Amino acid sequence: MFKTIEWTEDGVRMIDQTRLPAEEVYRTCRDYREVAEAIRSMVIRGAPAIGVAAAMGVALGVKNSSARTVRELRAEFEIIAETISKTRPTAVNLFWAAKRMREVFERSLKADASEADPDAEKIARAKARLVEEAQRILADDIAVNEAIGRHGAPLLKDSGTILTHCNAGALATGGYGTALGVVRAAVEAGKKIHVFADETRPFLQGARLTAWELARDGIPVTLITDSMAGHFMKQGQVEAAIVGADRIASNGDVANKIGTYTLAVLARENGIPFYVAAPLSTIDMSIASGDEIPIEERSADEVTHLAGVPIAPEDVQARHPAFDVTPHRYVTAIITERGIAREPYTESLKALFSTAASRASP
Ligand code: MRU
Repeated sequence: MFKTIEWTEDGVRMIDQTRLPAEEVYRTCRDYREVAEAIRSMVIRGAPAIGVAAAMGVALGVKNSSARTVRELRAEFEIIAETISKTRPTAVNLFWAAKRMREVFERSLKADASEADPDAEKIARAKARLVEEAQRILADDIAVNEAIGRHGAPLLKDSGTILTHCNAGALATGGYGTALGVVRAAVEAGKKIHVFADETRPFLQGARLTAWELARDGIPVTLITDSMAGHFMKQGQVEAAIVGADRIASNGDVANKIGTYTLAVLARENGIPFYVAAPLSTIDMSIASGDEIPIEERSADEVTHLAGVPIAPEDVQARHPAFDVTPHRYVTAIITERGIAREPYTESLKALFSTAASRASP
């Protein structure tokens, strides 16, 4: 199995998702600014993978710092965190990871009366703890996805075709995947699952990434264009749709790759369950609804060009909102590592968080 992202002695190593499926090449970022650029340019993408990359970017920035005082290191930390946080606005995992790294940073700088050279020791401790924490975030993410798979697999019939959009697989996470984690767990349980992968215009994550990783795993996959989804649903060829999420509001509204909303409406029209698989780190309990989710607007060139080749008249106006928001009423269930939430989401999501908190406390 390929590694989407890993911490190495040389820096943060990631598979370059802009080069797949033509080439499987890996890039090592040796500076936090390179990590930020990799997130922005979608060398690494997918909400949980962005979270892991953000954590590793912060760890790398602090590790490479030549600050000699805690005051200097704090000032550098702010610049590093700001640079990483400004890369992509929608996936809340990025901000979740940055917050977790900040907490570890502040804890590691707490005074210890026994230290002879407090600043030097605090700086060394902060560097070590942040590297450990970033690696823990990666390991936790894989375990979380496996748990999402275990909760989600029983929702699928023993055989059938699952429609998915974008890439919510191993490439979009630390490993295993969220929506594709459910598919993988169902296949591991002996179910005969076939996947329809939407190509996912304009960045083609479905065609380039989902088709690639499922084929590598030997999971039957058929590529369709986004505009074919309704046709196959109406023909009774789709058992369920499962997608990932970039941010879920406390009322269950789901921001995910542009085109997800259309699929959810089509699924409702055709009586097909529409599932969202996501970790608790993708749920933003601080916002009341999807109206508060910032939607990234990417370059129109990604719409007017394919692999650098123009496919539209020169200078035509184009728009590229990278995400849309699916209102919670279209979401049959949200599959998390703590279990499954259903309407009313304001209550079921809150309950999942309180289970998480009570299990975490001694
Ligand atoms: O723009 P991307 O490729 O980062 O968008 C990714 C998605 O929309 C995924 O569905 C989402 O992040 C969930 S990944 C498990």
